[in-house]
Amino acid sequence: MSTKSFFAIFKRPSILWPSAIATSFGIAFIIKDSLQGEVFKNPISQEGKVFIVTGANTGIGKETARDLAKRKGTVYMACRSLSKCEEARKEIILSSKNKNVYCRELDLTSFSSIKNFTKRFKAEQSRLDVLINNAGVMRCPKLVTNEGFEMQIGTNHLGHFLLTHLLLDYLKASAPSRIVNVSSIAHTRGEINTGDFNSENSYDPKKVYEMSKLCNVLFTRELAKRLEGTNVTANSLHPGIVDTELMRHMGVVNSIFGKVIVWPFLWMFSKNPYHGAQTTLYCALDPSLEKVSGEYFADCKKTEPADQAKDDTMALWLWKLSEKWCRIA
Ligand SMILES: *[C@@H]1O[C@H](CO)[C@@H](O)[C@H](O)[C@H]1NC(C)=O
Ligand SMILES: *[C@@H]1O[C@H](CO)[C@@H](O)[C@H](O)[C@H]1NC(C)=O
Ligand SMILES: *[C@@H]1O[C@H](CO)[C@@H](O)[C@H](O)[C@H]1NC(C)=O
Repeated sequence: MSTKSFFAIFKRPSILWPSAIATSFGIAFIIKDSLQGEVFKNPISQEGKVFIVTGANTGIGKETARDLAKRKGTVYMACRSLSKCEEARKEIILSSKNKNVYCRELDLTSFSSIKNFTKRFKAEQSRLDVLINNAGVMRCPKLVTNEGFEMQIGTNHLGHFLLTHLLLDYLKASAPSRIVNVSSIAHTRGEINTGDFNSENSYDPKKVYEMSKLCNVLFTRELAKRLEGTNVTANSLHPGIVDTELMRHMGVVNSIFGKVIVWPFLWMFSKNPYHGAQTTLYCALDPSLEKVSGEYFADCKKTEPADQAKDDTMALWLWKLSEKWCRIA
């Protein structure tokens, strides 16, 4: 091809545009692929072990449940919507060939639902090896839970606090056992608003989300301290930026501009749910972590959380407040 005819291509948009678009897609896929991160490769079986995964009907939670089912574990998928859970369960049973996968209703915005869930679980099972606190809401509009707590703090933090509390006796009796908390790198921007923890005076969805994720990390430290000597470990983690339904509350992604410009960009730099589940699986299963507690992980590695996530005075303040609000003091 002569130089002249090569440049002529650029004068013919009918060829240029499709090939430019195809090339961009190709590059986007290559970038996405190279950013998927570590995979937990240890094939260890979980036969005879019992797991609870909250928010297991979609995204990272679903992939976590699927992996545990493939390892022959007994998996409780704790979800708000039983119909969505049932769909995911059928798919997981088909792909794992493990029938010991159950859907149970758990609405983290209702103390009564949390209590009902744990009561039924305890009536059905005699042990709990790993509790995976995975469910979360992100940047939702101002809503309140059944007990009147702001939705993000209520779900991401208080609901899981109560759930964990009600299952501790089982975890202790099944030791060595583990609690895994899915937090986020968003905690690094988080600040605990001690003056208005429940957003009574003002509400900033982004700040409150970051605060709720900081709570997860702070609590893991306080909980780990309280669990010393029990052989129950508690760790938190950042799963990576994952393209799941969590993004549904990010306004910009729902606008036209978001769908055309921002979404493809976010997609390129995000992990798929399978890769998003890997650090959770690592924290839940890796034999080397049996005695590791109170730590924070990202990309299947121990990592330092932000300074404000190591504030033990704040962690204790939060613990006391949460006990009071969950009426378990
Ligand atoms: C919890 O169980 C009780 C008694 O079975 C029932 O009355 C209540 O409605 C349940 N709560 C929720 C939120 O499902
Ligand atoms: C997980 O986070 C919840 C809510 O912040 C907290 O109550 C619980 O203690 C945490 N558990 C672990 C293992 O970090
Ligand atoms: C914890 O595990 C160790 C062995 O690793 C055992 O000796 C100890 O009795 C266990 N403690 C409890 C409270 O289960």
